[in-house]
Amino acid sequence: MADQDQTAEATDEARAVEEPKRPTPYDRLGGSETLIAIANRFYDLMESDPAYAALRAMHAKDLQPMRDGLAGFLIGWSGGPRDWFAQGKCMFSLHRPLAITQKTTQQWIDAMRIAIHDVVKDDAEMAKAMSGVLEEIALSMLPLEVAKDKAEQA
Ligand code: HEM
Repeated sequence: MADQDQTAEATDEARAVEEPKRPTPYDRLGGSETLIAIANRFYDLMESDPAYAALRAMHAKDLQPMRDGLAGFLIGWSGGPRDWFAQGKCMFSLHRPLAITQKTTQQWIDAMRIAIHDVVKDDAEMAKAMSGVLEEIALSMLPLEVAKDKAEQA
């Protein structure tokens, strides 16, 4: 019996060596606290800097639900607890009715890049990767006719 236990243990150990658990971006960023700080910094910038006035104007007066929503999304998306997704929310469906323009998309991208940069100070590689992917997602949310105009101007 003891031999069997030892064999099982040895197999588990071998598996652990073969399949090391890669840290998720969530782990690498330091967990929920960091994602909450990014969401808060993002909305602080949007509230205080006129550079984001058009984006601010699209949001309701009380930004607390959006602060919680963005933090919850970022936590699940980066590999942490998926409570926000478990509510049946879909980020793309939530944005579909919004009149997203090139201007508000650029404001979103700029504010998010600064928020990530301000909060994630000790992992430049992860900060760059995260802002890069979020920028791609934001650009993919532009309505098709706006995206086409943008491509033609480039
Ligand atoms: C492309 C430009 C974008 C604009 C103009 C924009 C605008 C908005 C607005 C106006 C709201 C509030 C909606 C409401 O009142 O219910 C909102 C909420 C939110 N946005 Fe965006 N957004 C953009 C891109 C993104 C991107 C790229 C992400 C994530 C990858 C994102 C994640 C969220 C989340 C998670 C919420 C909160 C939803 C909730 O929990 O109910 N947004 N956004």
